[in-house]
Amino acid sequence: MALVTTTDMFRKAYEGGYAIGAFNVNNMEIVQGITEAAGELNSPLILQVSAGARKYANHTYLVKLVEAALIENDIPIALHLDHGADFDICKSCIDGGFTSVMIDGSKYSFEENIELTRKVVEYAHSKGVVVEGELGKLAGIEDDVNVSAADASYTQPDEVEEFVSRTGVDSLAIAIGTSHGAFKFKPGQKPQLRFDILDEVSKRLPGFPIVLHGASSVSQEYVKIIQDNGGNLADAIGIPEDMLRQAAKSAVCKINIDSDLRLAMTAGIREVLFQKPEVFDPREYLKVGRAYVKDVVAHKIKEVLGSDGKA
Ligand code: G3H
Ligand code: 13P
Ligand code: ZN
Repeated sequence: MALVTTTDMFRKAYEGGYAIGAFNVNNMEIVQGITEAAGELNSPLILQVSAGARKYANHTYLVKLVEAALIENDIPIALHLDHGADFDICKSCIDGGFTSVMIDGSKYSFEENIELTRKVVEYAHSKGVVVEGELGKLAGIEDDVNVSAADASYTQPDEVEEFVSRTGVDSLAIAIGTSHGAFKFKPGQKPQLRFDILDEVSKRLPGFPIVLHGASSVSQEYVKIIQDNGGNLADAIGIPEDMLRQAAKSAVCKINIDSDLRLAMTAGIREVLFQKPEVFDPREYLKVGRAYVKDVVAHKIKEVLGSDGKA
């Protein structure tokens, strides 16, 4: 099967009350772990690549790894640019085989965000590629963006209709209390998401696909393996799974997950290296990391997203 856009996936997910997992890929083992799980569960999939991933692994290698996964797994896969910072990186991914891009203009004013997003949409649509925009600012750290909790801001529902109609975006990422990374809430703090904002946004944009970034759950099972094997990730806390299940049943059609894959991969690698210090064949530890990534993705698809059997 060839790469697809997210248009059909989102329409079916919206109507069916489930969400598509958008998983970040950085190397072969991560691509394999994710796609093997989705392939076995017959789930549609979004593989997403950040600017940092392109810097690390090289655009061509990542595209070719995803093409290999398409040969090995008979499921629809969209290849998406995560957090495109400017027109040039979006153009480069559109020209380089991606079927979907995000233009992240959330750091700009409303008008500047509209102008930039519309420019990307015009170019993308002329090439048959779809675009995700963002309104509101998530807290947390990515390679190129570091937003403090104080600077984070919820999406304002009264801005969404104008943003979508003036830009022509195909989906919209909103900020309702999720954040990037493995430390989303302080110890003792009650995790909360603003479902009232999500409801208001979806009322104003009927049938329109909404995206949740920063949606890792930070499984304590993997945090414990990391801690027990020489790591230091005390107080890592994510979004409770029941909240994500609730979101997946709503207008949220795409749920972004990266940190949970990093934790699973790290747990597998640490376990081998810490317990068997004599190991120096990378395959010995990478295969355990890859197996844990596969377990996490299978769990997400079945227990959180509900996308199994929907390919
Ligand atoms: O939202 C950000 C993703 O987790 C990607 O992170 O920029 O470090 O690759 P990265
Ligand atoms: P997490 O850090 O919660 O996995 O979020 C990933 C993300 O939003 C990628 O765009
Ligand atoms: Zn994100």
